[in-house]
Amino acid sequence: MTTSTGARTGPTGVKIVTGYQSLPCCAPLIESFVKGFKLSGSAYKRVMALLHQEMNNGLKHHSQGGADIKMFPTFVRSLPDGSECGEFLALDLGGTNFRVLLVRLQGHDVEIQSKTYLIPQRIMLGTGTQLFDHIADCIGKFVLEHDLQNHQLPLGFTFSFPCQQEGLAKARLSKWTKGFRCEGVVGNDICQLLQEALKRRTNCHVEIVAVVNDAVGTLMSAAHGDRNCEIGLILGTGCNACYMEGLDNVGTWKHGEEQDHHPRQVIINTEWGAFGDNGCLDFMRTEYDHELDTFSINPGKQIMEKMISGMYMGEIVRLVLVRLSHENLLFTSIDRDCNLFERGRFYTKYVSEIESDTDEFFRHTKQVLDELQVENYTTEDCKVVKYVCTLVSARAAFLAAAGLATLINRLNKQDMTIAVDGSLYRFHPRFHNLMCLKIKELVKPGLKFKLSLEKLGGITRLKRFLLKPDRLVEEKNCYFKLHEKEKR
Ligand code: BGC
Repeated sequence: MTTSTGARTGPTGVKIVTGYQSLPCCAPLIESFVKGFKLSGSAYKRVMALLHQEMNNGLKHHSQGGADIKMFPTFVRSLPDGSECGEFLALDLGGTNFRVLLVRLQGHDVEIQSKTYLIPQRIMLGTGTQLFDHIADCIGKFVLEHDLQNHQLPLGFTFSFPCQQEGLAKARLSKWTKGFRCEGVVGNDICQLLQEALKRRTNCHVEIVAVVNDAVGTLMSAAHGDRNCEIGLILGTGCNACYMEGLDNVGTWKHGEEQDHHPRQVIINTEWGAFGDNGCLDFMRTEYDHELDTFSINPGKQIMEKMISGMYMGEIVRLVLVRLSHENLLFTSIDRDCNLFERGRFYTKYVSEIESDTDEFFRHTKQVLDELQVENYTTEDCKVVKYVCTLVSARAAFLAAAGLATLINRLNKQDMTIAVDGSLYRFHPRFHNLMCLKIKELVKPGLKFKLSLEKLGGITRLKRFLLKPDRLVEEKNCYFKLHEKEKR
């Protein structure tokens, strides 16, 4: 919804203003340090042309090896119909936490209990054995707490990292992303590693029956209620998209001529976060992007993700603020030992909070600056901080929009729903509207689209993916019945 002043209502119902905020008094000088974030329409069109080409490379057998965007075919060929029953565990791993869920289905009733466990950084950067042992230990405790030691429990695993899927419960990790770098996992089947750890560390009867990427789970979940839904998008700690592709276009599909009963299509997990790793996005990267990359745990990797996602956005803002402060254009009497100068201390949730300030009191902005131990800031400083946030998040939203517009144009369907999930999209007050504005500008005339927030996030996702992927029924002889109660 748009009002006459250009204010819109975001997904969380917060009023937002879509344009850039007006600049404070020292504008021209400040502007020279941030202008790299303001990109023209033709820059985003260039991104689209490059992305389209990279996607084609990823889909072709002969070029996938060298392609940055791997376009992994998944094992999901058709969407669930909701006729499943049982009791199962679900595991969600992809950020700094992981969640174990117990889902019980009794007739039409669904009971879900869940617990979130922290993954300490030493484990995120340790060995694969430590990681999977830790997960297995937590599952073991969860099973004990719920008195399930003697139950046979199928487990569905949402594993939000790039994997070459070789079966419904077989996925080889192609590389770690986000904050993870556990030794000895890349190239191995993560289901097998977890299954072995479960055997080593617990006495419980848990069997992994399916593994799915979060973007794929989001698409499956939404497509059940909306037949126009063909794209899944995650804007959270990381960033990724998937879509339904015709098998004839998937040169990397290894399963020969399909005589099965599935439609000739498969969900492609694009792993587009890696777009730009070959340098093709360098024309739009700023000095702050380069610095962030240099100090990341995976330099040169996940370039598009580093310009968009929640793991990095706050840090980009911090780097700009630090630069402005060094130039004496901001916080002129700041103590250089305060938290603002510490890498990683400006969280992306601060960006959302700051941008939700709509008046000159800057309540949230001040709260954030206090948390960062910035002292003696002025109202002008608050304006600049907010301005920097709007620029960094607008570029992120526009880049994600360019990615989506590329997919919408490829699919070329009249009406399309894009299922979106992830904390960045969920909590940022302007992301949704900024994306819609830019997509409208970039899609072929006449193509309509709708961005739809996955209402229950991970929980719905996990339920959906256990709904009825046929292979799960065929391969494992597990049968779940789940009645979807919540209305989308
Ligand atoms: C991973 C994807 C995942 C995305 C969102 C990226 O870093 O490579 O597999 O879907 O984060 O969680």
